[in-house]
Parts: sequence; structure tokens; C-alpha cells
Amino acid sequence: MLNVLITGAQGHVGSALQQLLDSRQYRILTTDIDEMDITNHDQVAQYMKINRPDVIINCAGFTDVEGCEKDPDKAYLVNAIGVRNLAEAAEEINAKFIQISTDDVFNSKAERPYNEFDETSPKSVYGKSKLAGEKIVTQLCNRFVIIRSSWNYGIGKDFVDELLSAVGKKETFNVAQNRYGVPTSTKEVAKVIQHFIDHDEYGIYHAVCKGSCNRYEFAQAILEYTGNTDKIKLIPVDRTDVLRPDYCVLDNMMLRLTGVEEPAEWRTALKEYLDETGGLE
Ligand SMILES: NC(=O)c1ccc[n+]([C@@H]2O[C@H](COP(=O)([O-])OP(=O)(O)OC[C@H]3O[C@@H](n4cnc5c(N)ncnc54)[C@H](OP(=O)(O)O)[C@@H]3O)[C@@H](O)[C@H]2O)c1
Repeated sequence: MLNVLITGAQGHVGSALQQLLDSRQYRILTTDIDEMDITNHDQVAQYMKINRPDVIINCAGFTDVEGCEKDPDKAYLVNAIGVRNLAEAAEEINAKFIQISTDDVFNSKAERPYNEFDETSPKSVYGKSKLAGEKIVTQLCNRFVIIRSSWNYGIGKDFVDELLSAVGKKETFNVAQNRYGVPTSTKEVAKVIQHFIDHDEYGIYHAVCKGSCNRYEFAQAILEYTGNTDKIKLIPVDRTDVLRPDYCVLDNMMLRLTGVEEPAEWRTALKEYLDETGGLE
């Protein structure tokens, strides 16, 4: 039985992964900041020596984009130095290292989906610190997988909750029509992660649902699938966010080229999630 460690296990992706992985198939170890602060080199080294996971999946991160801008030291400490600590420890015990990364490593200059061979060029401190983490992984680890995703929703607070929480409380909801991406459920991301736990294939992979949309279309679909279309009026607005790319659609080229099953179409995954949970969890 493989020993699988999930760090940042209380977060969005970590929670979805815990839910997906079957404890009869893997021995699952979970940590979050209270059990193992990834920025603490000695704590990480000690934990790994004692528990010796075969696979380490790093779902921990400082993911508050505005927070990273205000506190760049913390951004690089968690998203780069924390990753270095884990990557070093992974090599020491010969573990596979899976790092979760983001579409924020790109900017919005391309007007076609970004594949894994496109140049990175992050706009924000968050994106830069995540890219620094990716580079450290590629430098330190022999057996690594980097998975970049985008617009995740699932367990925990996200755009789906924000919109559905406004139903019944607000009459209107402003939503950007000029920002494009790929809504992707954390369950779909977790399925891709599970593939890489089970298979010895390495490298950088994009893992987003198929298709793309703008935020307004995403919001329309959420209301439609929950029967709330008439309960709140969506107002399409143009909103420029200096920290996030306006156009950030990822192409799962590496999944395709290596024959790995791609996540579902974004509307199918969204409908499945809303049917299962109602969207507020
Ligand atoms: N959500 C998205 O839309 C999205 C999209 C693309 C990529 N990603 C990437 O996917 C990864 C997981 O994202 P997520 O949405 O699951 O993030 P999240 O919900 O913010 O979870 C991150 C977890 O890491 C923990 N953490 C923070 N600092 C830590 C430290 N020093 N040591 C140990 N744990 C620490 C956090 O604890 P606290 O809550 O106590 O800080 C939290 O439980 C991130 O690396 C992110 O860059 C996310």
C-alpha cells in the first residue's frame, strides 16, 4: 500500500483529494499548518524521516492574491521556500513529489489557450512566487509532477458560494464579462492527481475542465443549474484586475499528448457538483 501525504489538507484541493482517495487503496497521511508548517525546514525534514511517504502532494500554499501583494516575503516563504523544504525532503526519502500550481504563472497577452510549452510571465506576486516554487521543484526533484489548474470550486468558500449566498439577499450581482478562464471542480483536479499517484509519468501538466467561458457565463450556469435564474439579476460588467490575467484559459496539451484522461467539460462538472451538493458547502 502506498503511503500518500497530502499537505495543506484542509484547503480546497486538499479536501477534495481526501474525499476522493480511498483509504483501502492508500495509507493516507494529512497535514496542515498546525501539524507541519512547510516553511519550517527542520519540522518538514523530521516529519518525512518519521513517516516516509512514497508520494507527497503539496496542496499547501499562500493563495490570497491581494495578501501576497501586501506581504511578498510571506508569499515567497510559503510558495517557494516551503516548496523547497518539501522538495528537498522528498529527494532525501526518494518520494514522488506532486506540486499544485496555477494559471497565474501566465499573463493575458495570448488570446489562445496556454499550453505547458508556453513562456510563463506572471503579473502578481502570487503568480511569481508560485512560479518560483515550480522552478525549485524542477531543480531539486528527480521524480516530480507539477499540476496547474484554474478557477477551482468545491468544498470551501469560492465563487459558487459567493454567488449562491447572494441569492435571496441581493437583487443584483455584478460579474465580469471580460475575464475568461476555465471553471474546474476540485474533484476533477483530484482525479488527475490520483492518476499521477498511480502512474510513473513526470513533468508539468495543465489540468482544467474542457472548454472555457467568461465569469458572466459561469455565473449564468450556476444560477441555471440551481434553479435560481429568476431570483437574482446578473449585471455583466467590465472589470480589470491588475493582479490577475483577463484571459487565462489553459490547454491540457500534456494530458492529451501522454494519453491521460482529461477532466470533464466545464458545464458537465459544474452540473454534477451542484446536483451533488447544492453548491453551498
Ligand atoms: N483555488 C483555486 O482556484 C486554485 C486555482 C489554481 C491553482 N490553485 C493552487 O492549488 C493549491 C491549493 O489551492 P487551494 O485553493 O486548495 O488553497 P487553500 O484553500 O488556500 O488551501 C491551502 C492550505 O494550505 C495551508 N497553508 C498555508 N500556509 C501553510 C504552511 N506554511 N504550512 C502548511 N500549510 C499551509 C492553508 O492553511 P490556512 O488556511 O490556515 O492558511 C490551507 O489549508 C495552491 O497551491 C494554489 O496555488 C488553486
